[in-house]
Amino acid sequence: MAARSTPLLSAGVLGVLAWLLTSSFLSQTFVTPGPHAIRRGRRTACRAVETAVLLFQPGQRVTLTGPPAMAGAQGTILEPKGDDAFAVQFDNGSIFHIATHNIEGSGAPPAGNVNYDAVRADLKRVMDDPNWDDGSYGPLLIRLAWHSSGTYSKHTNTGGSEGAAMRFVYGSEAKDPENAGLAHAIKYLQPIKDKYPLMSHSDLWILAAYVAIEHMGGPSIEFKPGRVDTPDEKGCPEWDGPMIDGQASSRLPHAEYGLVEGFDRNKVLDSEGRILGWENLAQHMRDVFYRMGFNDREIVALMTGGHLWGRCHPEHSGYAGPWVEEMTKWSNEYAADMIEDPWRMVSNSDTWLDSIGAEELRPAPGKRQYVNKFPAAEGGSGLDDPNQMMLVADMVLLWDPAFRQTLEEYAVDDTGSDDNHALRRDFAAAYKKLTELGTQRLTACPFAH
Ligand code: HEM
Ligand SMILES: *[C@@H]1O[C@H](CO)[C@@H](O)[C@H](O)[C@H]1NC(C)=O
Repeated sequence: MAARSTPLLSAGVLGVLAWLLTSSFLSQTFVTPGPHAIRRGRRTACRAVETAVLLFQPGQRVTLTGPPAMAGAQGTILEPKGDDAFAVQFDNGSIFHIATHNIEGSGAPPAGNVNYDAVRADLKRVMDDPNWDDGSYGPLLIRLAWHSSGTYSKHTNTGGSEGAAMRFVYGSEAKDPENAGLAHAIKYLQPIKDKYPLMSHSDLWILAAYVAIEHMGGPSIEFKPGRVDTPDEKGCPEWDGPMIDGQASSRLPHAEYGLVEGFDRNKVLDSEGRILGWENLAQHMRDVFYRMGFNDREIVALMTGGHLWGRCHPEHSGYAGPWVEEMTKWSNEYAADMIEDPWRMVSNSDTWLDSIGAEELRPAPGKRQYVNKFPAAEGGSGLDDPNQMMLVADMVLLWDPAFRQTLEEYAVDDTGSDDNHALRRDFAAAYKKLTELGTQRLTACPFAH
């Protein structure tokens, strides 16, 4: 509270008051006393100013939608002419004054001119939907942002959230089997994209995930806009590792990479119930996440804070069921349950799952996953236990000693709502880093929280 009174002592009292009254930000924004006058100045630069002058900027590439004789012509903005026209230089060199309503932006939209508070409010308004999965689009949006960012390679500085190439339905990124189901999220966000045409798809996907995390009780992550969409599917990053099952991939991790094949538990499991070859999968996860620039601790933070939301869908990935009981509410349940509960490998032939009311945990043919259920012959399991699953890639965090150390720390971490707790803090930092990988021109927009 002391911090709140600080700006009142400084200049611009009325402006700050007005800002406090209209602000939708949590009071924790003020925990650190800082140079509020300067922050307020920056907010002014970041907020929506929907005048023609700021709509297009000198040097910006544009396409004409009219007048009819000129429609489709491309050129560059030179300067504003009056309130509703711009001098445009066409690629053939000619310069004309064109009315604003005939100009369509392309290339880099001026990201600073979007009212991000309004976008946030719209996202929050449509996020909860009783007709979708567990009542929220949030988990799907968190996965969309992760998959759009997780293509990054530090070796070639390619991939990452900038581009949003996944929106091209025939592009290699959309066709990557790892991205199955994400078209729903892209479609769901389209009306909001239409309402804020100056915002890039890439920025919208990331902001939507941040809003989802915060809306479901997770940490707030500072949003920085400025990602530019690739105009065509040629912008899709190509897989730069070995082929998986003879297929190229968009560089994302695979849930069963490197494991021995087969479904006979007597043949594929070791004495501790681990699928043989799991060390290869641990190495694969390190290969993929190290390529993005993450370390072991960050990997566990991302998985623990990522796979608590939502569920697997047999019709998307072939895997089935949620990781935790409350899959639309922030918690450390993923780490705690992984360590505390017993887990058993199942495949599509484990029909006993259906008879104990856990059919939602039976994966599609060809897939193996772990569940917190056991058949009667193995002692059964409490029918009251919620249905929960783990991918083999999740179980690796328990089996690999280095990963496990961090997992144990998060399992006893009372995450609550205090952003200083280890898991909240680590996940927020790692997810922000993930979603900013490879970006070139993010704007410092501290009030676009
Ligand atoms: C080794 C790494 C990972 C693997 C193999 C993996 C795999 C998967 C798979 C197979 C699904 C099910 C998709 C479906 O059937 O709809 C899924 C869902 C999901 N993943 Fe991951 N994932 C990984 C890492 C992450 C990370 C780092 C995050 C975020 C920080 C994340 C967030 C999510 C979310 C939120 C869902 C649920 C989506 C929904 O409810 O529709 N995953 N993941
Ligand atoms: C250049 O392009 C514009 C827009 O298509 C056209 O109106 C103009 O006549 C062209 N100028 C020349 C010199 O070809």
